[in-house]
This record gives sequence, C-alpha cells and structure tokens, in this order.
Amino acid sequence: MAKEIIRVDNLAATFGTRRVLKDISFSIYENEITVILGTSGCGKTTLMKHLVGLYPVQQGEISILGKRTDLMQEDEFSRFQLNMGVLFQNGALLNSLSVADNISIALEQHTTLNKQMIKDLVKVKLGLVNLTHAYDLSPEQLSGGMLKRAALARAISMDPPLLFCDEPSAGLDPVTLAGLDELFIKLKQQIGITIILVTHEVSSIRRLADRIIYLDRGKVLFEGPLENALNCGIPQIVEFFEKAASN
Ligand SMILES: Nc1ncnc2c1ncn2[C@@H]1O[C@H](COP(=O)(O)OP(=O)(O)O)[C@@H](O)[C@H]1O
Ligand SMILES: [Mg+2]
Repeated sequence: MAKEIIRVDNLAATFGTRRVLKDISFSIYENEITVILGTSGCGKTTLMKHLVGLYPVQQGEISILGKRTDLMQEDEFSRFQLNMGVLFQNGALLNSLSVADNISIALEQHTTLNKQMIKDLVKVKLGLVNLTHAYDLSPEQLSGGMLKRAALARAISMDPPLLFCDEPSAGLDPVTLAGLDELFIKLKQQIGITIILVTHEVSSIRRLADRIIYLDRGKVLFEGPLENALNCGIPQIVEFFEKAASN
C-alpha cells in the first residue's frame, strides 16, 4: 500500500448559513494521482482551498506530509506551502514578465541560488513541460495549452512533492488536453510527485486517476481506486460516467 501523504478528518466549512463542506474525511497517497469529482457547486474548489491553506480550517483536521497544517501559525504555514505546487484556473502568469521570469519568482524569493543556477533550473522546468523555446517569450505570445504548461512549470519550480490542480483543462481542446495529461503522468513517473486534481473530463480521469474522491453536496460519497468507482453502483457516480460517455 502506498504511503498516506494527506489525511483529512471531519473537515467542515460553513459560509454564512451555507454548510459547504460536511464531515469530510479521506486520504491521499504518495505518488498517486487523486481526482476530486462531483457536480458543479458540490465543494471541490472549497476543499482544495482548504488543503492549500487559502481558507482557514473552521472545523476538522488536515495533516499533510505528517504535519497538522490546520494547527500551524501563519509563518510556519507559509514556509510549509513550498511543499505544495498549485495550478488553479485563475492562476495566470504575469504578462509584464517573461515566461522564464515568471517561473523564477519563487526560486528568487525562497532560495539563495545565484542567477545562473536559477536560469539553469528554469530551463530544466521548461524542458520538462516541453517549452524550452518559450524561455524569453511573453505569456501573451503563448497559446492556451502553452500557458497551462508554463503555469505548470511555475507550480513545480520549487520541486514540491505535492501538486494541486483545479480544473486545469478548462478551455483546452482534446488534443492539447491529452498533452497536458501526458505531462501529469510524466511528473508522477519521473519525479514521483503526488497530484490532487479536480477535473470533469472523463477522458482525463480514465487516463490519469489512481483514486477517486467523489463529493456530493459537500460530503464524500465515494473514495477509492478508479476501478472501484467505475463499478461502485452508486447512482450519482454511475450517472456521471454514463453521461460523459454519451457526450
Ligand atoms: N468564501 C465563500 N463564501 C461564500 N460561499 C462560498 C465561499 N466559497 C465557496 N462558497 C460556496 O460553496 C459552494 C461550493 O463552491 P465550490 O467549492 O466553488 O464548488 P465546485 O468547485 O465544486 O464547483 C458554492 O455554493 C459557493 O458559492
Ligand atoms: Mg470549482
């Protein structure tokens, strides 16, 4: 059995009078790709924001890499966040900087590496996402798929063991999407990164997912390997895969 790398226990979140997350418990395992699924508004993004610390934990416990992140003080947590690469929908690159400068921001802020070393590392990261040629380009000169890959290079610039992606496929055509999925597999296989991914794309889920966490109105309806999800017989989950298959 793979090693547990994230454990969430009884996580709950309420905004105003709305209970958005209800008694959520699950595990995420090292070097696996876990896909968080569920219909729009069920709480996927809210859950991801709790995991990466964009929302404070109101109720429940989160352990990441063996540490209780919900108990951390702000400065400890901001150092800890270097373990977590984040690729969220709205995480655009800065157009005022070159692609390379966007990717080197964290390296400049959080390491004492010299300019040449940072340059070399950025080249390695760009190579990993097949964007070596984009080093000096402005983000405005990149296509949608290239932008996603550049943002991915930025998310992994500090070699985080964990990568969180919230609907990275939004707006990509099937071929570009398949290319992005290949990169996720490469990161998992070559670097051993653990990926937590929110996506609706069934083609991606089938290609990528080791495990599924299916949320339904703020609750975990299913947690387990992809194969079990496909055969679980739970109506909402059956319907999700069937609907997608007929699209
Ligand atoms: N900060 C917030 N304040 C109020 N409501 C919120 C907040 N964050 C999320 N919600 C609500 O939580 C629900 C789930 O949203 P979200 O997690 O974005 O769903 P999903 O990503 O699954 O589509 C929505 O009804 C949303 O309006
Ligand atoms: Mg969302």
